[in-house]
Amino acid sequence: MTNNDSLFAADWLALREPADARARSSRLAEVAGDWLASRTFNRAEIIDLGAGSGANLRYLAPRLTTNQSWTLIDHDASLLARATESKLPDCAHRSVSVTTRTIDLNACLDDLPGEGLVTASALLDLVTREWIEKLIQACHRANCAVLFALSVDGHMQIGDPSSHTPETKRDDAWIFNQVATHQRRNKGMGRALGSEGPEVLRQVLAENGYQVYSAVTPWRLDTVDLKLALAALDEWARAATTAAPESSYFIQTWQARRQAALRQGLCSLQVGHHDVLGLPIEPASARSNNVSGSKE
Ligand SMILES: C[S@@+](CC[C@H](N)C(=O)[O-])C[C@H]1O[C@@H](n2cnc3c(N)ncnc32)[C@H](O)[C@@H]1O
Repeated sequence: MTNNDSLFAADWLALREPADARARSSRLAEVAGDWLASRTFNRAEIIDLGAGSGANLRYLAPRLTTNQSWTLIDHDASLLARATESKLPDCAHRSVSVTTRTIDLNACLDDLPGEGLVTASALLDLVTREWIEKLIQACHRANCAVLFALSVDGHMQIGDPSSHTPETKRDDAWIFNQVATHQRRNKGMGRALGSEGPEVLRQVLAENGYQVYSAVTPWRLDTVDLKLALAALDEWARAATTAAPESSYFIQTWQARRQAALRQGLCSLQVGHHDVLGLPIEPASARSNNVSGSKE
């Protein structure tokens, strides 16, 4: 991330993309693809909200079985430019067109494609409940499916079997509390959902006549992902310092200790995410399902 809460560094997005792709539920992507294929005559219309440099497009496009027209929406034109410059993975001769719109997410809810897919990845923690409600109502009117991937669920853990003590666990828990406080700060749209995002999305989908599917999609980072794990520590330390500037010395000391343990291969990080899929159904039969075994 950058110092501005709603602007994201291209380097950070590139660093997380492989771990995101490993974590995501291919099962939910497949179910969304089947739904689109059953409705689409020629091309599926897909809107990617907060698309950044296009990671969601690169993950989903090869997994959908139809021709596709993507619209990538973000307020950061330089990230969108990277998305269109990047090469798409092999989509097995299906035609995939990509256009971009540099607009604020608040301004994109009135123009959804009928029977299309509205998707996003790593976005839900930034938005508000009100925005989600408006979005899902608009999606329902347009009879769109909804797939939000990689939304943080608040589960953060440092696995450190060699040196876990009640004190280190307490220190980690304190840092995670500050991170959670920071995640709920206003990121330009009102009070952000932070880790409540997946639960709020499930509720709002169910209330608006959607069948809801959910999968746990955590990152598990160790020495194999050292660069990303160190960047995640940086991100936690930065968020904790913003939330509790008076404790910056304690936070720096904590970070240095955890960096050393990560570099020596003594600890690993877990960051909880959920993928949530909503498929439109008649309100009377709305229900919530958990897709088990979704860590393919
Ligand atoms: C964590 S990044 C995720 C990017 C991408 N979906 C991915 O998975 O790599 C969140 C994205 O939301 C965009 N964003 C945040 N607030 C926004 C707003 N109010 N309007 C439009 N885009 C916004 C950021 O520019 C950034 O690209």
